[in-house]
Amino acid sequence: MILEPNRPQEGRSETVSPWRFSIAPMMDWTDRHCRALHRLMTRRARLYTEMVTAGAILFGPRERLLRFDAAEAPVALQLGDADPARLARAARIGADWGYDEINLNCGCPSDRVQNGRFGACLMREPGLVAEAVAAMRAEVNIPVTVKCRVGVDDQEPREALFAFVETVAAAGAAAFVVHARKAWLDGLSPKDNRTIPPLDYPLVHELKRAWPRLPIAINGGLVDLASAREQLELVDGVMLGRAAYQNPELLLRVDSEIFGEAAPYLDPFAVVEAYEPYIARELAAGTRLHDMTRHMLGLFAGRPGARLYRQVLATRAPRAGAGLDVLREALAQVGRVEAAA
Ligand SMILES: Cc1cc2nc3c(=O)[nH]c(=O)nc-3n(C[C@H](O)[C@H](O)[C@H](O)COP(=O)(O)O)c2cc1C
Repeated sequence: MILEPNRPQEGRSETVSPWRFSIAPMMDWTDRHCRALHRLMTRRARLYTEMVTAGAILFGPRERLLRFDAAEAPVALQLGDADPARLARAARIGADWGYDEINLNCGCPSDRVQNGRFGACLMREPGLVAEAVAAMRAEVNIPVTVKCRVGVDDQEPREALFAFVETVAAAGAAAFVVHARKAWLDGLSPKDNRTIPPLDYPLVHELKRAWPRLPIAINGGLVDLASAREQLELVDGVMLGRAAYQNPELLLRVDSEIFGEAAPYLDPFAVVEAYEPYIARELAAGTRLHDMTRHMLGLFAGRPGARLYRQVLATRAPRAGAGLDVLREALAQVGRVEAAA
């Protein structure tokens, strides 16, 4: 069991780190419909929103950006910005909306984010990040955490990461999620920045050894629960991104294999059945079927009929007026023998 040594336990019986297993923040992917689906598959994983800029929360369509279903909890709101005062205001609003954690993005390498001087560029500005964390902490009673890289461009990763964590932890960051590779800010797309810079897990393990009392979660390139479990011998938490989204069936084993608890459902068919009332509610409120079913395309991966299932959903769910009958027809394909390609 991993204690949460940085914060008072307040008599809670909960002794497992809240960051033990999480699903990564992913733009365009981990929206509220996706999170509602993932939550059905694991009660224990910590979920993260897509990155939202503080400016968008302060001046944009707040309801659309922040609303979520209470059943999704625990959910962390990921913010992207570099202005401590703006971040503090946005964090406050997020906490008031009921999020369980505010996470600051210090890892995104996109041009848009670089133009705003936030995301991964912040690896070069630990002082500013510390100021932002302190400002957010002063506004909220929930943990303020940071998701970062091991460095950017020509930084020496050990020096950059350790100095960054030292400065930002001193400002009160409750936990760090480290995407265990550098971001190369010049010339690589965000997608390439998730594959080309080499992974350096040992550096993150070394960080944990240097900061035994600080919760550290590792992220990047973890494809299954076996590798997640191996990492948990060395760090407090694991965060899975693409594997969780593209092969969500693995989430059905998280509660048992990572937390030693019963799985919420036996198989993806039961998950879909449990998700249907949510879909029906959302359809009635005007949400398009595709907005929900697009997150389910990977659900039957590897099973006979999975391709036909995806085909039915991908072609018919986006049509105006598409309803649950489309999902049921897609489901009826699974289990059938795949037609020869
Ligand atoms: C489609 C997509 C969108 C992403 N958006 C974000 C984001 O909004 N904030 C963030 O911190 N990381 C973002 N990431 C990075 C992931 O959180 C994660 O760090 C990265 O994918 C590495 O983990 P993985 O190998 O388990 O996927 C995104 C990744 C993907 C694939």
